Amino acid sequence: MDIICKRPRGTEDKLPKEIYKWRTVEKIAAQTAEVYGCKEIRTPTFEYTELFQRGVGSTTDVVQKEMYTFDDKKGRSITLKPEGTAGVVRAAIENGLFNDALPLKTYYFTRCFRYETPQSGRLREFNQFGVEVFGAASPSADAEVISLANDVINRLGVKNISLEINSIGCPACRAEYYKALKNYYEQYKDKLCDTCLERLDRNPMRLLDCKSEICSAFKENAPRILDYLCDDCKTHFDGVKARLDALDIKYTVNPLIVRGLDYYTNTVFEFISNDIGSQGAVCAGGRYNGLVEEIGGAPTAGLGFAMGLERIIMVMDSQSLDYEQDAKCDLYLATFDDETNIYAMKLAQRLRNDGFRVEFDTCGRSFKSQMKYANKLDAAYCMVIGSDEIASRSAKLKRMSDGEEVSVSLDDTLSEKLNMLMMNI
Ligand code: HAM
Repeated sequence: MDIICKRPRGTEDKLPKEIYKWRTVEKIAAQTAEVYGCKEIRTPTFEYTELFQRGVGSTTDVVQKEMYTFDDKKGRSITLKPEGTAGVVRAAIENGLFNDALPLKTYYFTRCFRYETPQSGRLREFNQFGVEVFGAASPSADAEVISLANDVINRLGVKNISLEINSIGCPACRAEYYKALKNYYEQYKDKLCDTCLERLDRNPMRLLDCKSEICSAFKENAPRILDYLCDDCKTHFDGVKARLDALDIKYTVNPLIVRGLDYYTNTVFEFISNDIGSQGAVCAGGRYNGLVEEIGGAPTAGLGFAMGLERIIMVMDSQSLDYEQDAKCDLYLATFDDETNIYAMKLAQRLRNDGFRVEFDTCGRSFKSQMKYANKLDAAYCMVIGSDEIASRSAKLKRMSDGEEVSVSLDDTLSEKLNMLMMNI
């Protein structure tokens, strides 16, 4: 097939026949975020590259290898957003949102772009539902954000998801931990992969995330961040766990969760499914108390998460869960010629303005094919508009499920009548 009829590798078409799945997930996610007091925010698809270099971190895989970066016509470096957090922080600073009453609670749906090797559940363009909360430093905020994600998952009916949490401390306790980690890995220096060797000096915690067989064997006995937390970070993490316990949210502490983005401090977490293969993280996030300042704002606590919508839908499909179905056609108007077709078009216009889903022939089909099409649409009712019907201003409404017919007037009472019939009154 010609390349112009092929989508780029790692992208997906979301087709009309499956869009009801997306709508269901988006509706439940938005409703849940709103009951938690979050307001929607929409930020640009692309930002200046520096935002992600500073925000996400120049030593991360995302920034080093995966960004879609290009120069615009004025030679400025632009990047398609690889994640949603940095853009929200930038928008909040630029628009003075931190000057309003805090906490600022936001949610968003965004496309993200990462040049990764595509596989099941891993795309180059994917969709996230995210939540970002600012100005809330207490462990209650961590528990609230985790509980929001947990509620979305539960309200969608998704089962068998495990929650793993960890604390990666603040820069102060992490400095001590980095020393211990470097010391530990020094002994294996000649065995480490090139990426780990490079990270050993700049970002040693990322060594715990290396998937290579040789390097991952070393992490078993590596020092654990939880043993290095300062008193404040320890108290904070204990506070988060106590609140999750109070909410009866089950979790396990996994000291190996370090996350792939540099901005995290203290709590980090992942919701993981075993039903969709190796890319099982359906939702991930954590606290990022230094990020607002890093990007140029006043020091402001921040935290949030993002849920991968393709992955959550994959889990829902694998568990055969129900979605809210798209509404079907309420009424099909079948016609014979130009005169009846124009009449039907005007009638459809009136009924559509009253909120009904109405279809009529726009393909020049024969009467018989129109009836076939009405069946295909699974229309609830059908009405034949011939010249007799136009002259008498009345017609028969046929219920497609059982063929039962009622006479109706084509005047202004039609909407009311149709409404009563549809509601089975
Ligand atoms: P992340 O872990 O990079 O975090 O991505 C969050 C979620 O997006 C993942 O758990 C996964 O479900 C989905 N995801 C990531 N990459 C892909 C991909 N290539 N294909 C399909 N789905 C993917 C962030 O993006 C942070 N901004 C989350 C956050 C918000 N932390 C605090 N606030």
